[in-house]
Amino acid sequence: MYKITEKAALNPTVTKMVIEAPLIAKKAKPGQFIIVRPFEDSERIPLTVAGYDREKGTVDIIFQIVGGTTMELNSLEVGQSVHDFVGPLGRATEVEGLKKVCVVGGGVGCAIALPIARELHEQGCVVHSVVGFRSKDLLILEDEFRACSDELRVMTDDGSYGTKGVVTAALDELVAAGNQYDLVITIGPLIMMKFVVKTCQKHGLKSIVSMNPIMIDGTGMCGGCRLTVGGETKFACVDGPDFDGDLVDFDEAMARGTMYRPFEAKAREKACN
Ligand code: FES
Repeated sequence: MYKITEKAALNPTVTKMVIEAPLIAKKAKPGQFIIVRPFEDSERIPLTVAGYDREKGTVDIIFQIVGGTTMELNSLEVGQSVHDFVGPLGRATEVEGLKKVCVVGGGVGCAIALPIARELHEQGCVVHSVVGFRSKDLLILEDEFRACSDELRVMTDDGSYGTKGVVTAALDELVAAGNQYDLVITIGPLIMMKFVVKTCQKHGLKSIVSMNPIMIDGTGMCGGCRLTVGGETKFACVDGPDFDGDLVDFDEAMARGTMYRPFEAKAREKACN
């Protein structure tokens, strides 16, 4: 059992939890993920490591309350425990040797982007961050991004905070201002990542995307998280979650993502009753 030591609502639908898990805290790196099962009979869900404290032996997770299992997880309070917390899984984001990077996060994907931006900043890389949200009330982690970014652009769809517009408009502007990046790292909704990759291609920039499909075992056995990358089948849990943006078949990934909606609706119903 893994004790919850802190819990905070970052916005009405996104929660941060700090979990006591010393062995995972010792090894975790940005980009890796955890498989969580709130209760013994819950489904297993992957959540990316949003931070860790190696001395305290804790791991941060940030999740959006969207389905049955995240509702169950959110029902737990400080002092209670999650039943399973397995990881770190997946490959860490490769950040070594990068000198100037643009990190583009969308919505709750910003929770995954933040530890990567931090790691880049700590190794002396120039970090420009672009974060996008639907509106001001969904904004998360602004101060944390500001602390590890040489430049931060906040975008909202409705213009209620920062600049009105999509993240790709900010990326276009940064490039037009003369910024050249070794790499653009993007994490967020599939449709956003697809268009960030297209924008990078237009500017001749390399991109890495963090894929977060449905996962079951998290060990490459079940095939649930498969994707087509460069014409080959890859498993996000063991080959990723990061992939070369130019090679990912986003349309297929989006179609697969919708296959599970009826099951998710049932799970949500069960969690609500
Ligand atoms: Fe089962 Fe990746 S989650 S193969």
